Amino acid sequence: MKDIFKIILILIVCRKLALCNGAGKSYYTAGVVEFLPTIAGMSSADIVNEHLEAYVRIIKSAEANDTDIIVFPEGTLNNALQTTYVPAAHEKVVPCLNVTGMVYADFLMQLSCAARTARKYLVINLTEKENCTAVAQDTRSCAANGLNVYNTNVVFDREGCVISRYRKVHIYVEQKNTTLEPEYGIFETDFGVRFGHFICFDILFYTPAEELVVRYGIKDIIFTSMFYSELPFLTAVQLQQSWAWGNDVNVLAAGASLPVAGVTGTGIYAGVQGDLVSVMVGGVGIRKLYVSQVPIISNKTLTNDYEYKQKTETSMPIVASDELTLLKDPQIENFTSLLLDFTTQQNITQTLCNNDFCCRFDIATQSIDTPAETVYYKYRIGAFKGQRTYQKNEWSDIQICALYACKNESVASCAEIFNSTAVVKPNIAFKSLQIVGDFMKADKLLIMPNTLDGSLLSLSAETLGWHVIDQREHYTAHMNLTRPYCDSLLTFGIYANYYDRSATTRTASYSNTTPTVLLCTLALVLLVWRF
Ligand SMILES: *[C@@H]1O[C@H](CO)[C@@H](O)[C@H](O)[C@H]1NC(C)=O
Ligand SMILES: *[C@@H]1O[C@H](CO)[C@@H](O)[C@H](O)[C@H]1NC(C)=O
Ligand SMILES: *[C@@H]1O[C@H](CO)[C@@H](O)[C@H](O)[C@H]1NC(C)=O
Ligand SMILES: *[C@@H]1O[C@H](CO)[C@@H](O)[C@H](O)[C@H]1NC(C)=O
Ligand SMILES: *[C@@H]1O[C@H](CO)[C@@H](O)[C@H](O)[C@H]1NC(C)=O
Ligand SMILES: *[C@@H]1O[C@H](CO)[C@@H](O)[C@H](O)[C@H]1NC(C)=O
Ligand SMILES: *[C@@H]1O[C@H](CO)[C@@H](O)[C@H](O)[C@H]1NC(C)=O
Ligand SMILES: *[C@@H]1O[C@H](CO)[C@@H](O)[C@H](O)[C@H]1NC(C)=O
Ligand SMILES: *[C@@H]1O[C@H](CO)[C@@H](O)[C@H](O)[C@H]1NC(C)=O
Ligand SMILES: *[C@@H]1O[C@H](CO)[C@@H](O)[C@H](O)[C@H]1NC(C)=O
Repeated sequence: MKDIFKIILILIVCRKLALCNGAGKSYYTAGVVEFLPTIAGMSSADIVNEHLEAYVRIIKSAEANDTDIIVFPEGTLNNALQTTYVPAAHEKVVPCLNVTGMVYADFLMQLSCAARTARKYLVINLTEKENCTAVAQDTRSCAANGLNVYNTNVVFDREGCVISRYRKVHIYVEQKNTTLEPEYGIFETDFGVRFGHFICFDILFYTPAEELVVRYGIKDIIFTSMFYSELPFLTAVQLQQSWAWGNDVNVLAAGASLPVAGVTGTGIYAGVQGDLVSVMVGGVGIRKLYVSQVPIISNKTLTNDYEYKQKTETSMPIVASDELTLLKDPQIENFTSLLLDFTTQQNITQTLCNNDFCCRFDIATQSIDTPAETVYYKYRIGAFKGQRTYQKNEWSDIQICALYACKNESVASCAEIFNSTAVVKPNIAFKSLQIVGDFMKADKLLIMPNTLDGSLLSLSAETLGWHVIDQREHYTAHMNLTRPYCDSLLTFGIYANYYDRSATTRTASYSNTTPTVLLCTLALVLLVWRF
């Protein structure tokens, strides 16, 4: 008897030790930073120094103490006038120790040192330069100054060694170069997790983002961004959570913070368990680290003995259009849609088709008395099958079944939110809400649940029922509410990205058109920096 107790005791102690000592841990601790860049008032060199100091302060802060890895967002460190060389991972360079040659910019060395001192993995995004002569096999013409300039993610390990370098594939309106072949940013850590990383606009494409998951089996994705949110389906946190859920992978997303320009959105997501922390920031923007324990997913099975922090924090929620500039889906008026009129019927069952693609909606509501002087959203249900572009000559084939909010009865008012002069109170509660869609199988397809509440965050995982059934020729996706929903709801739908299915049939026709939608760009920052 006594022996059994002893064994149990030993087991408990071993387990505790294992948890503390890394190897057997079922979670790691991650930090993601929402970072407000300085965009004016100093020389470009001073701006880099100011950013560097703020980065180092965050890395050394008490809040960062427990983190294994910290991710900084895109475009918030250096700029086109302050580039640096970056060593390749196989060179195993620790810039912190490499003082003699002085090839690397001072800020790269300093961050290497910060990672080394704090003993943390560090992911940063920067503007990289490379001598054209370094890529002999590239026959494309080199710029006059002999340099390639890339938008690059750099990963340091706990020694400050550069262990991964990823150069953005889907460059936006940035004046950057791309590599001859797309690169895949993948690295291993001492806590047993293999990460893949990519940048902003990449998330909407198959190569390399989706490939990291489907081809390389990566379960932990790092996403650095400066993302311009678009209603009703592609606001930043909404897309991050949606992508993490649809792929059932962890996503660590760090967003630049420039709300007046439409840029914010940071979070940590655990696949179908939803967000562990997520923020959309309004007003002037912030510099803040968000920390969460993240469950380690091994071989598609989620370990269940982690103790991650749920929703540690939400900062000031955005409720109004004047706190964050928002783009609007250019295709929203081309949806087959139906305005829901809850005054005549509380329950609505309806099938809508767009081209040959159909969605079934099953909705039960209950009216809520709204105080005078308040406004409420109207709702439409809609189906869409078609192509969309994101300004450049890059397209996605999209299929959507969704309920979405509109300011009034007209289609033109959908994908807009009220401004802060209005007090918004929902006039209906959704007692139940179910959407079902059939999606033809394809080689490159990601089907995601897509939700947005009145604070521009996604619905919590407990609220959402999601089930994809593999039929012979197609998938049937079911999405529902698991409980009645009484708060403000902006979007509830199924979003399928067939990626570039029809890309080849459509090449140059778009190239002369004026840009209308800019989802990821440094245009604003560069504009201000050019002085
Ligand atoms: C960081 O954590 C260590 C042990 O985990 C502790 O000894 C130290 O006091 C902490 N430092 C701060 C600044 O919280
Ligand atoms: C990464 O950061 C650098 C420096 O701020 C910037 O030039 C580059 O454009 C950033 N990446 C993206 C996609 O903006
Ligand atoms: C790039 O070329 C310049 C001039 O030839 C040289 O000084 C520099 O060290 C090279 N940089 C790297 C990283 O090879
Ligand atoms: C890199 O970009 C510059 C400026 O856009 C361009 O002139 C140059 O040809 C590009 N280099 C390569 C290798 O594509
Ligand atoms: C994951 O799967 C691989 C190959 O299928 C196997 O070698 C490995 O031991 C598995 N790891 C865990 C933690 O189960
Ligand atoms: C909406 O559909 C019409 C008719 O097919 C088309 O002319 C228009 O370009 C579409 N709108 C967008 C933004 O693609
Ligand atoms: C609406 O649906 C709810 C829940 O499905 C049901 O309880 C209720 O009786 C229905 N109301 C009407 C008027 O059909
Ligand atoms: C509905 O909203 C649209 C877009 O916000 C606006 O242009 C239009 O005037 C509004 N219509 C009514 C009837 O209020
Ligand atoms: C807010 O919206 C109302 C109604 O659409 C409009 O009259 C008012 O000018 C707007 N106020 C601000 C500050 O944008
Ligand atoms: C939601 O759908 C699932 C199937 O995907 C079903 O098991 C569940 O009962 C549904 N929940 C509600 C509240 O309708």
